Amino acid sequence: MIKFLLPAVFSYFIGSIPFSFLTAKFIGGIDIRNYGSGNSGATNVLRTLGKKAGAIAFLGDFLKGFMVAIIVKKFIGIDIAVICSTFCVIGHCYPIFLGFKGGKGVATTGGTIFALYPLIGAILLACLILIIKASRIVSLASISSALLFPIISFIFKTHKYFLIYSVILGLFVVYKHKSNISRLIAGNESKISFKTPTDK
Ligand code: G3P
Repeated sequence: MIKFLLPAVFSYFIGSIPFSFLTAKFIGGIDIRNYGSGNSGATNVLRTLGKKAGAIAFLGDFLKGFMVAIIVKKFIGIDIAVICSTFCVIGHCYPIFLGFKGGKGVATTGGTIFALYPLIGAILLACLILIIKASRIVSLASISSALLFPIISFIFKTHKYFLIYSVILGLFVVYKHKSNISRLIAGNESKISFKTPTDK
């Protein structure tokens, strides 16, 4: 029990560090939750403050998932790394430091996937980029990649725990996009631009 409890709690706290929120606070001096989609995530930082801030926010949220998963995998093992990855994403989505109102988990889940199965991470990232390029709708790309995650994990015959992780996290990320899904159905989901807001 103690073998996974301490690392899991630690992972939750690391996941709770709200890099997108902090980036928007330090670079733009704003509370990102009051802008754009209201989401404390890299897409909303990009949408509100431009490319540089969006990239920093993405890197922070991605790297916390990556670091947790890779360190736990190396020193404890992949089974506990999968459990810690789950807690890290839960921390990102329900952060103790931000009143349990966080992001949608895409960048952080992506970081954990790259740490545990880099090839699967690369395939999902390619899918994400292609859909963003074609539609300029990040939520559509995130939902599609989340649905693809368990399918690719099954094809690659990943570790049993990772396969369960891919099903649960894939569905969880889709669930976190429920407001985006309503907007997609209504046809009014916002598109992103890679210009900085001041260029507009
Ligand atoms: O990763 C979040 C993205 O898929 C959607 O973000 O701000 O458009 O709700 P947003």
